[in-house]
Amino acid sequence: MFSPEGPTLRELAVQALSSVEHGYDLLAPKFDHTPFRTPDSVLTAVATALKESGPYEDGLDLCCGTGAGVDVLATVCRGRVTGVDFSAGMLDEARGRGRPAGSRVSWVRADARALPFTARFDLVVSFGAFGHFLPRELPGLFAQVYGVLRPGGRFAFPVPAPPRPSAPAFWALLGFDAVMRVRNALWRPPFVMYYRAFRLGEVRRELERAGFSVALRALPEFGTRSDGSPRVRMVEARRPD
Ligand SMILES: C[S@@+](CC[C@H](N)C(=O)[O-])C[C@H]1O[C@@H](n2cnc3c(N)ncnc32)[C@H](O)[C@@H]1O
Repeated sequence: MFSPEGPTLRELAVQALSSVEHGYDLLAPKFDHTPFRTPDSVLTAVATALKESGPYEDGLDLCCGTGAGVDVLATVCRGRVTGVDFSAGMLDEARGRGRPAGSRVSWVRADARALPFTARFDLVVSFGAFGHFLPRELPGLFAQVYGVLRPGGRFAFPVPAPPRPSAPAFWALLGFDAVMRVRNALWRPPFVMYYRAFRLGEVRRELERAGFSVALRALPEFGTRSDGSPRVRMVEARRPD
């Protein structure tokens, strides 16, 4: 699961016993060698889909980590590109990466639940971070995103179909979430990371409640399941004009 450059089991355990923010500070130098970084196949598929609805002007990568989504924004945005994350360590890594000459990228340290921007964006993307938010935090999070979008702007993110009980991944994710629940019942500070808490139906409802109009788009690169439903979708939530 991890390459030799990735974290050791001990390092992962220390990370998991920290807060989310400090855990990522610790993991940051090795983060890109873990499966937690969004794979290029997903980033490319989202960039391809966004190119069809774009181009956009200013873009924001919410919970940017080392900048995976910033690279997507750089291909579809003509204006400013900003990455926001609350881990100083992850942002240091992101800043240390070379970006294409002329790209206008800035990095902001802030909590996604209290975004500090006065300027507005035309496109907000987010990859691989929603498991860090409890379902009860989604209304506040989506309201923040709505507030930083210009009228007509979009909030886009990929959502994989949940594995079925016949798939080993179903049991692996169930087991992971169960371990995290026990850990959080016994240990402070909590490390919120639940794979199965972010459910498309509820997410759609909360986005609509926040004022977005929501469209789902299959990402054809990942094919379909046996019942014909897409393996991965992109949510496109639009702030009305
Ligand atoms: C699994 S990483 C994903 C990073 C990157 N988006 C990617 O796909 O490779 C999750 C990121 O979310 C950030 N994060 C989690 N909760 C956050 C919050 N409330 N505000 C800002 N960043 C947050 C973490 O610091 C971490 O960098």
